[in-house]
Amino acid sequence: MNWEDLTKAISACNKCSLADNRTNVVIGRGNVGAPVLFVGEGPGANEDAQGQPFVGQAGKLLDMALESTGFEQADYYITNVVKCRPPQNRNPLPTECEACMPYLRAQFKMIRPKIIVCLGSVASTAMIGKEAKITSVRGTWIERGGVLFTGTYHPAALLRDPTKKIIMWKDLKMIWQKLQTLK
Ligand code: URA
Ligand code: SF4
Repeated sequence: MNWEDLTKAISACNKCSLADNRTNVVIGRGNVGAPVLFVGEGPGANEDAQGQPFVGQAGKLLDMALESTGFEQADYYITNVVKCRPPQNRNPLPTECEACMPYLRAQFKMIRPKIIVCLGSVASTAMIGKEAKITSVRGTWIERGGVLFTGTYHPAALLRDPTKKIIMWKDLKMIWQKLQTLK
C-alpha cells in the first residue's frame, strides 16, 4: 500500500461509529518523510470542518511552540489517534482507538520516524500502554524497536492552564535537541 491508497482507505472508512457524524476525516499534515511524528487525540470542530489536524486554537499554540523551539516544517508530521471527530469533543473510546490504530500503524510504517511524541494522555496510553499517563511520559525517553517515544501536554491543556506552557516548551526543546543528535 502506498500513501495515496492509505489516504483513500481512511477517507472511506466506517469501521467505528465516529464515521456517522464526521464532515471530513483528518489524516494528518506535515512531511510524510519526517523524523518526528506528533500524535494527538482526535479532530475537534475546526479540524473536522477543514480536514486538517491542529488548525484551531490549540493547533496555533502548538505551531508557535514548535517554531520557537527550533523545529522546521520538514522535521515533523502531525496526526491523531482517531481520524474522525468524537461528538462534543469527548475523549475517543478505547474501542474507537483500537478500530483506528491500524491507520496510525500504517502511517508510522511509511513515515519511518525516529521519534514519536504523544500529545496528552489519550495518545500516550494508546501508543505506549495503559499506565503511560502524560505526566509520567513527558520529559523521558522510552526506546522500542529503535524508535524513541516521549510526550508532552496536549496543547488544549495549555489553554486551560497556562502554567503548563513553560513545561511544554522545555519538553519540545528536549525533543529538538535529541533530533539534532539524530540528524
Ligand atoms: N486536538 C487534537 O487532539 N487533535 C487535533 O487535531 C486538534 C485538537
Ligand atoms: Fe474509521 Fe478511524 Fe474514522 Fe473510526 S475514527 S471511522 S476507525 S477512520
